[in-house]
Amino acid sequence: MNDLIIQNIKQLILPKSTDRPLKGQELDQLEIIENGTIVVKDGKIVYSGAHTDSYEANATIDATGKVVSPALVEAHTHLVHGGSREHEMSLKRQGVSYLEILEQGGGILSTVEATRDASEQELFEKAEKHLLTMIRHGVLAVESKSGYGLDKENELKQLKVSNRLAEKYNLDMKHTFLGPHAVPKGAESNQSFLQEMIDLLPEVKNYADFADIFCETGVFTVEESKEYMQAAKEQGFAVKIHADEIDPLGGLELAIDEGAISADHLVASSEEGKAKLKESDTVAVLLPGTTFYLDKEQYADARGMINNNGAIAIATDFNPGSCVTNNLQLVMSIAALKLKLSPNEIWNAVTVNAAKAIDVDAGTINKGDKANIVVWDVPNHEYIPYHYGVNHAEKVIKDGKIIVDNSFTLS
Ligand code: NIG
Ligand code: FE
Repeated sequence: MNDLIIQNIKQLILPKSTDRPLKGQELDQLEIIENGTIVVKDGKIVYSGAHTDSYEANATIDATGKVVSPALVEAHTHLVHGGSREHEMSLKRQGVSYLEILEQGGGILSTVEATRDASEQELFEKAEKHLLTMIRHGVLAVESKSGYGLDKENELKQLKVSNRLAEKYNLDMKHTFLGPHAVPKGAESNQSFLQEMIDLLPEVKNYADFADIFCETGVFTVEESKEYMQAAKEQGFAVKIHADEIDPLGGLELAIDEGAISADHLVASSEEGKAKLKESDTVAVLLPGTTFYLDKEQYADARGMINNNGAIAIATDFNPGSCVTNNLQLVMSIAALKLKLSPNEIWNAVTVNAAKAIDVDAGTINKGDKANIVVWDVPNHEYIPYHYGVNHAEKVIKDGKIIVDNSFTLS
């Protein structure tokens, strides 16, 4: 006997299973079945498609009037961190820029202090809360970066927390070492600090899947980023880069040349960089919530990247400074408004392509896939970007079991 049937689904969203990211025009193609059914057994999808009477199961969910999709994939977060930075709001109001705050020892560096001051258990409990919020919003695969320790003890502390969370919730999580995220106070030089981080790579490999670096004015140069990426690849890491977030340094071109699994931000990327995307399977992970929160006019040129036959994904960038939201649905709305993405492109960008950007087996619910599913209390797939800033996930189903039920009535 099967375990679960979800039936009468108004729209069943079925991103395509592929072994490479969707690129260019492919991003606008999405199978949407009206009056769909999903059948689950032993935590896996037995059937997903048009309505059928040929299955029976021990439990039934009636999804009349609702949308059902794969659980979302969150491809870029700074989940584990100490403290918070609400005081930066007033600095922003006074016109102090993000990089100026960092130069003055605030920003990332103030989170470094708070993260160093926190015990592993304190960090765990804080990150756990943030992670559970993501899950309640329909996310079941998450990338999580270090980068607020900037020394061996504290980088490992963050990565251990991330690994413990993955284990506790048996989640598809990928862990990223972002040691070169900023240059700590007291470092002799950028170069000597970078070397320190490179020397940590062999030990960090026990706790991290990816190595990432912040390539930006005043942080690390393209040359330094290249040195780091090459060292990381030698140690068996797949590499990522925070590139061209504020200034067009050429981080995207570097990422493509180095075969990075993703290049993230890309707000200021050059025309050459965008054109190069077509030659590679590097996923451009766009973070429009960050541009919104940094209050910038210019967003990443998602349309240009798609026209150049590039692969894009979208993610929150959840962190305590430049994007303080762990609601990926909100970022889907910002992507519609500011990146001018179509609903189909957005759904592919938070499912299959996000999964490719972090190399997880997630983002699809075709036969044989894990039954990681969301039942959305919305009438169609365009509705989530449209009705913004609230949680539309009604039920989150992990390995065939309902782990979140947000439908409740007031007593
Ligand atoms: O992706 N840009 C660098 N790192 C983060 C921000 C971190 C912070 O401000 O704490 C980002 O935007
Ligand atoms: Fe980031």
